[in-house]
Amino acid sequence: MSESATWQELKFSTCKERVDALETWLFEQGALSVTLEDQADQPLLEPGPGETPLWDKVYVTALFSADCDLQPLLTLVPEQWVEGTPAAPTVLQDREWTRVWEDQFHPMRMGHRLWICPSWTAPPDPDAINILLDPGLAFGTGTHPTTAMCLRALDKGVIKGARVVDYGCGSGILGIAAARLGAVSVLGVDNDPQALTASAHNAERNAVDPDQFATVMPDAALIKEWAGSADWVVANILAGPLIELAPILMALLASNGRLLLAGLLQDQAAEVIDAFAPPVTLCIAEQQEEWVLLQGGSI
Ligand SMILES: C[S@@+](CC[C@H](N)C(=O)[O-])C[C@H]1O[C@@H](n2cnc3c(N)ncnc32)[C@H](O)[C@@H]1O
Repeated sequence: MSESATWQELKFSTCKERVDALETWLFEQGALSVTLEDQADQPLLEPGPGETPLWDKVYVTALFSADCDLQPLLTLVPEQWVEGTPAAPTVLQDREWTRVWEDQFHPMRMGHRLWICPSWTAPPDPDAINILLDPGLAFGTGTHPTTAMCLRALDKGVIKGARVVDYGCGSGILGIAAARLGAVSVLGVDNDPQALTASAHNAERNAVDPDQFATVMPDAALIKEWAGSADWVVANILAGPLIELAPILMALLASNGRLLLAGLLQDQAAEVIDAFAPPVTLCIAEQQEEWVLLQGGSI
């Protein structure tokens, strides 16, 4: 696409109940894409598979080609769908979008041995353990504090020959890191089939053999086979699911195994710690922003 090509954008303010109707209507009017944005700073915690929660107040931005006459749309849009007077169309200069996107992701060092590197950059330290990982549909690029804290803990703790469970594996980043750090066998578990596909794909890109990193749904028989044998169980999910999963995660641990939990906020730590005690004693091992990492094991 040439640098001189231009696009136009229309931005509307609406509430979540009206988003579907407005979005459908904008596509009918020739929109090429529609983007939704939070108007406030309302956190949407991780949805279950198939769920798409929305913020209460939403900006809906529609992209049109440069030759569309957008003025009539501003008067045609049903009044009850939008709040306030929509702004005039904005003209956008074309840019090299792939580069704009790629510029947001850089190699990141995690602890002493590990680097997470996007595929379009050369690893800064070729002698380090470099995990190649590009942003995709599954969670886990290393940019989120919860993932970063787990990676640093694995970097410090995983010793050669360990057996590691990555519960809620997403992109597979933690399981792959564990395998590359020397774990002999890794079990990745996720209730989202897309995450399992992403984990297997990323494992292959990082030369981690499927025999070394199995990825399964939570009802897989393999999970029972792992009972009582994991040297490390790492789960970066959310406080609620971590509490629900406590018996399953503890059952996976070997008697001297270590548990790493992330995805919880500082003010949720006490509740999560209580759900695992006894027999597992957990404490806050690290905090980044409002997120904490819990680490511990059986007494
Ligand atoms: C925050 S992501 C973490 C991804 C990756 N492990 C990381 O640290 O970046 C949480 C993952 O847990 C999965 N998940 C959520 N609830 C789960 C459950 N009850 N059982 C298994 N997986 C679950 C989600 O599908 C998602 O892929």
